[in-house]
Amino acid sequence: MNIAAPPVLIFDSGVGGLSVLGPIRALMPGVSIVYAADNAGFPYGIRSEAEIAARVPALLGRLVERYRPQLAVIACNTASTIALAHVRAALDVPVVGTVPAIKPAAEGSRSRVIGVLGTMATVRQAYVDRLAGEFAVDCTVLRHGSARLVILAEAKLAGETVTAADVAPELVGLTGQPGGERMDMMVLACTHFPLLAAELVEARTLSGLGPLGMVDGGAGIARRVAHLLGGAGAGAGQPGSGRAVFTRADAHVDALAGALQSFGLMTTEIL
Ligand code: DGL
Repeated sequence: MNIAAPPVLIFDSGVGGLSVLGPIRALMPGVSIVYAADNAGFPYGIRSEAEIAARVPALLGRLVERYRPQLAVIACNTASTIALAHVRAALDVPVVGTVPAIKPAAEGSRSRVIGVLGTMATVRQAYVDRLAGEFAVDCTVLRHGSARLVILAEAKLAGETVTAADVAPELVGLTGQPGGERMDMMVLACTHFPLLAAELVEARTLSGLGPLGMVDGGAGIARRVAHLLGGAGAGAGQPGSGRAVFTRADAHVDALAGALQSFGLMTTEIL
């Protein structure tokens, strides 16, 4: 008898966690995935710390009870930087969080000016100060919080056209700051933003400011998950199953069906 391993739960406010699901699937094709999006609470980036800290652990508790995952990934910088400790305290499964990739950005910067592009809630966190102090102490670390890019990423995956011109003002949010024209590495500190990597690269090219390296946490999270699951939990042979779970039924969820299926999430349900 073939008893399937329990799934890995991947959690975000919306489709951003798909930028983490991609590297997890690439590294562990056999693992079963439950992808949970709190669209009823979306967007997190404009919420207060207190709201996130109350909402996320309670919701993850319900999801773990329902789906019994072997491991949970908070594929959301906003939720992780605010609520990771609360979630770990509340759950009895291992929890992997998402940390702004300041360390690799600092390692790759020659100009010693790096940018952190996240949600408004993420870029104001003391957690980001600590990462900058630990890993980028000799760098100028510019920050910009963008709610618009989150909306644009959702729109793109729902089939709408998003262009470089749409995302360009958010790059200017960093390059327009003192020293910003020298920025040569940028942290995509919101999991929605790698979904707009092509548009961001094009916008940078059009700006004429020269090459810009972009880093996000997806590959590192996938390695961490693989390490925690070991050989046994990661699944092998057959491609793992995938389903998406939302916290509210609406037309946007319907519009996302094609994108979800392209990430192997073949069915959608409401929590
Ligand atoms: N994807 C999320 C993050 O990484 C948050 C997007 C939002 O809901 O504002 O921060």
